[in-house]
Amino acid sequence: MSRLVVVSNRVAAVSEAGPAAGGLAIGVLDALKETGGVWFGWSGECLAEASDEPTIETRGNVTYATVSLAKRDYDQYYRGFSNATLWPVFHYRNDLARYDRQEYAGYQRVNRWLAAQLKPLLRPDDVIWVHDYHLIPFAAACRELGIENPIGFFLHIPFPVPQILFTVPPHAELIQALMQYDLVGFQTRVDMQAFLDYVVRAAGGQSDGRSATLDGRTCAVGAFPIGVYPDAIAKAAKACAERKVVRALRDSLHGRALVISVDRLDYSKGLVERFHAFEALLAASPGLHGRVSLLQIAPPTRSDVQSYQLIRRTLEAESGRINGRYAQLDWTPIQYLNRKYERNLLMALLRTARVGCVTPLRDGMNLVAKEYVAAQDPTDPGVLVLSQFAGAAEEMPGALVVNPFNVMQTAEAIERALTMPLDERIQRHASMMAKLRESDLSVWRDAFLNALADAAHVALPA
Ligand code: ADP
Ligand code: G6P
Repeated sequence: MSRLVVVSNRVAAVSEAGPAAGGLAIGVLDALKETGGVWFGWSGECLAEASDEPTIETRGNVTYATVSLAKRDYDQYYRGFSNATLWPVFHYRNDLARYDRQEYAGYQRVNRWLAAQLKPLLRPDDVIWVHDYHLIPFAAACRELGIENPIGFFLHIPFPVPQILFTVPPHAELIQALMQYDLVGFQTRVDMQAFLDYVVRAAGGQSDGRSATLDGRTCAVGAFPIGVYPDAIAKAAKACAERKVVRALRDSLHGRALVISVDRLDYSKGLVERFHAFEALLAASPGLHGRVSLLQIAPPTRSDVQSYQLIRRTLEAESGRINGRYAQLDWTPIQYLNRKYERNLLMALLRTARVGCVTPLRDGMNLVAKEYVAAQDPTDPGVLVLSQFAGAAEEMPGALVVNPFNVMQTAEAIERALTMPLDERIQRHASMMAKLRESDLSVWRDAFLNALADAAHVALPA
């Protein structure tokens, strides 16, 4: 049986501190722990010089092989082309994107360097699974080095329609690079269709809906929505419900309803619009003053990218302004916390809230939406308010789906969630739990790996 080799820029912390915040790290860690294998990527360290060879550490059945980046590589590949060009454009924020030719050259160079670092670790029957936008040229770099193993790619973030992708100057090269994979996977069919639209309409290739052909090269394509383990989350949330921090939160509410939001502090997550929706709710419903609070947990991310510094300042100003306007001596409408929580504890915090407000302006999937539902007490569950622009919206029939740009609609959905009768809450929650169980994280992993094995005509990893 073959071995699974996962490649991603972000590798879940090798330390006991638990994984970094971010859907990729959380999802891949849980998926890889079961199959075992190798996880290769960036250590998170940026040094004067890049490492000579990967640092290897084995924990359980997973071997972590990590490399440190040189400062220039970090600036060009991670901070630059990945997070100041691709991330904003793929989230439909070309207004925030910049293009710098040197950064793009650095992005390609680091992909080639990473492939060369991985090569000595590979065995002939390994199956390589590459994750996310940092590594689009990785397969091409591997092939140049003579690596012949099957290589699949999964994009955790949205794929933009051609008119948006055109704004990235090397868009044609990016598509050609993706075509070098045996399989390219997306979170949703909408994302997959956007890729196929580019291949067929913009580049003159062909597709039968399951593969794409361009310039004589064919790759398989598919939609593989990432999931969670809902029952494990439910168990952890329940088990941690009496922890000190969770009790302190409950006590601080004095019977008030809690609306919770948990996101990396990213402009794609719709935090400003959400604060405005909460403000609109308070303006429209004075009866709710002192009776509901919004808890926004938002750990900072990519803080050395300018647009992230700006969104952070905006949120500080807006939470301060709204609290200044509505707070009472014994009530703060918005609690805004820039910190990370231990995973099980976070699940218990989600369980405490009557409403989960997950309203990104654009999101590949959004695992927090799924975690919120899974963490609820099935006999008295909270209600999910969910953006139509999160990949998760396709799979969450029981959510109140909103357009996050429509502040009044979001405010009304929160109010409806706060007043929803118990039987309706139970029925909505049950329908979503059924879906989450049907397409859990193992379904995502196995569907992708099966499709990759088919595409490359090899046996599945053990
Ligand atoms: P993204 O991948 O864009 O960050 P997701 O919602 O898909 O968005 O995934 C975020 C993951 O990070 C979730 O599993 C969530 O529980 C976790 N996370 C987010 N904020 C925190 C936090 N403050 N502390 C711990 N984990 C967090
Ligand atoms: C999203 C991306 C991941 C990334 C994560 C955290 O989930 O899809 O690729 O790892 O955000 O961002 P960071 O830049 O800290 O890795």
